[in-house]
Amino acid sequence: MSRRFRDVLGNFPTSVVAITTTDGEDRPHGMIVGTFTSVSLDPPLVSFLADRSSATLREIRAAGRFCAGALAGNQERLSRKLASGPAGQRFDGTNWRTSSLGNPVLDGVVAWVDCTIEQVVEIGDHLLVVGRVHDLRAESPATPLLFFRGGYGDYLSSAGPLLDSLVGWHEIGR
Ligand SMILES: Cc1cc2nc3c(=O)[nH]c(=O)nc-3n(C[C@H](O)[C@H](O)[C@H](O)COP(=O)(O)O)c2cc1C
Repeated sequence: MSRRFRDVLGNFPTSVVAITTTDGEDRPHGMIVGTFTSVSLDPPLVSFLADRSSATLREIRAAGRFCAGALAGNQERLSRKLASGPAGQRFDGTNWRTSSLGNPVLDGVVAWVDCTIEQVVEIGDHLLVVGRVHDLRAESPATPLLFFRGGYGDYLSSAGPLLDSLVGWHEIGR
């Protein structure tokens, strides 16, 4: 079941979102999730699912806050680092600033949402973390990084080819 579960569910594309926080000594912690989603507009709530064993989740629960950042198409390397790099080195070589809640906001993300933890619900082998939104911003016009069938990809708007044909790229080279 578990092989089939992974294979079939891998056909549902996801966003690639960095969940970040800091510890008591201002050290950054982060992980990648494909389970970030908006939950409620009033009050403004978002959520993600984290494996029970996640070390980053422990830091997030201790801090009581996190920032969710949608990675851009050119941030695959950063995603690999945050998903599987050694815990103390995941932010090496990456620039970030501190949000008003105290969470790392990674440079180059498409958008970010700064949250406090509203609720944590145990579901199967994961925990559903519900965050209350304190601040949020669409940061860059960059297209997002996506995950599909076990691999990364870049988003391509279906309007792109249409605009190209309207503008007539074939004409431009003449
Ligand atoms: C595209 C992608 C999506 C992922 N989605 C999740 C997720 O939704 N929840 C989760 O717990 N881990 C997810 N992971 C795995 C975590 O990022 C990874 O296990 C990370 O090392 C957790 O770090 P930690 O154990 O240090 O907390 C995902 C990884 C990738 C590459």
